Amino acid sequence: MVVKNDISLQTFNTFGIDAKARYFASITYPSDLNEARLFVRERKTPLLILGGGSNVLFTRDFEGLLLLNRLQGIETVEETEEFLWIKVMGGQPWPGWVDYCVEQGLGGIENLSNIPGTVGAAPIQNIGAYGVEVKEVIDKVEAFNLETGKIREFSNSECEFDYRSSVFKKLAKGSYFVLSVTFKLSKKPTLTLTYAPLKKIFEGRDSDSISIREVSAAVKQIRRSKLPDPDEISNAGSFFKNPVVKNSKLHLLLERFPTMPYYPFGDDRSKLAAGWLIEQCGWKGKRVGNAGVHEQQALVVVNRGNASGEEILNLAEKVRQSVDVKFGVGLEFEVNIV
Ligand code: FAD
Ligand code: EPU
Repeated sequence: MVVKNDISLQTFNTFGIDAKARYFASITYPSDLNEARLFVRERKTPLLILGGGSNVLFTRDFEGLLLLNRLQGIETVEETEEFLWIKVMGGQPWPGWVDYCVEQGLGGIENLSNIPGTVGAAPIQNIGAYGVEVKEVIDKVEAFNLETGKIREFSNSECEFDYRSSVFKKLAKGSYFVLSVTFKLSKKPTLTLTYAPLKKIFEGRDSDSISIREVSAAVKQIRRSKLPDPDEISNAGSFFKNPVVKNSKLHLLLERFPTMPYYPFGDDRSKLAAGWLIEQCGWKGKRVGNAGVHEQQALVVVNRGNASGEEILNLAEKVRQSVDVKFGVGLEFEVNIV
């Protein structure tokens, strides 16, 4: 493991924030991790893992060791007539991994096409889009314990997946480096076309005649029309999670805001659309200094120029405050603040 000093992270995060890491190393072999563990222990310095940097906001320099996950490899570990189990190393880029499955005719993650980032970060917040969450295809997650140096396998249920959450964001936060993810993919794909805009694209088509390649292409097209490309406008996707409220609260809100969108979430709760709440507060397309709220998708906070992480965070806090004042709903950040 080669450790560099005082490295700019600007090209390593999709917000394009020019923060520095005091120490910086790429992890290309699992054995590098033991060295990293000893390095931080000796220096009593913190450690931070970065994949594609597409879900982090740096509000300061990082005064510890930043590990860039670059573990590569894809290996089939089991096969039946119906399914294939494939182990993918955490540093593999997520979009390329989905394209690989789509090309091989393996179903399960086509709705998650073009989500930026790495395979290793996918279980951290249980990435999801267009009616599918990655938890539906994860068999197990292999992770390195940064305190003990031991490797542990987490079964799907041990990952405690939830909407934009997992054990790696809760009890095990900061304790594990995800080495690999084993996926269970279907050789006889069943399509998920429940998300309204996706359903519309395939209206009138017999579902047997639709290929996962077409679904992937449709998802990419919807994403392009709704979400800003970080190569053009720096951002980290949805800055906020969609809030989940009790149905008793939902009904009170609907009395005041009858057109408010909502989706059932379990038996007695509903998910609200944070984008709609933020738009109703007048934030959509607004700019404050170098930070802004995207004009097509109010859930996305953008860096309009050389914004600092603090400027972006301040804007996000203001947005959060106004949603609380108007609706009495607390928004949680999806983006990880450093
Ligand atoms: P990073 O941003 O590098 O890290 C995210 C967090 O995970 C950090 O806390 C980091 O410390 C931790 N982490 C990363 N790798 C590891 C590891 N190997 N072991 C332990 N911890 C680790 N997300 C969705 O769910 N759905 C979407 O539709 C979606 N659309 C997006 C669109 C855009 C334009 C952008 C920019 C982002 C979008 N995101 C979406 C968010 C983002 O793509 C995902 O959260 C993705 O999984 C982040 O991957 P990453 O490798 O960039 O993680
Ligand atoms: N809406 C508005 N105004 C907006 C944005 C959205 O009124 O500015 C309304 C829409 O009209 C719709 C509802 O909000 O009624 C939901 O919008 P959309 O389907 O675009 O999805 P979202 O809730 O805004 C979520 C995820 C995205 C994911 C899409 C598609 C979260 C926090 N975000 O967005 O994930 O791609 O659904 O499934 O759950 C991410 O996590 O970074 C991300 C981009």
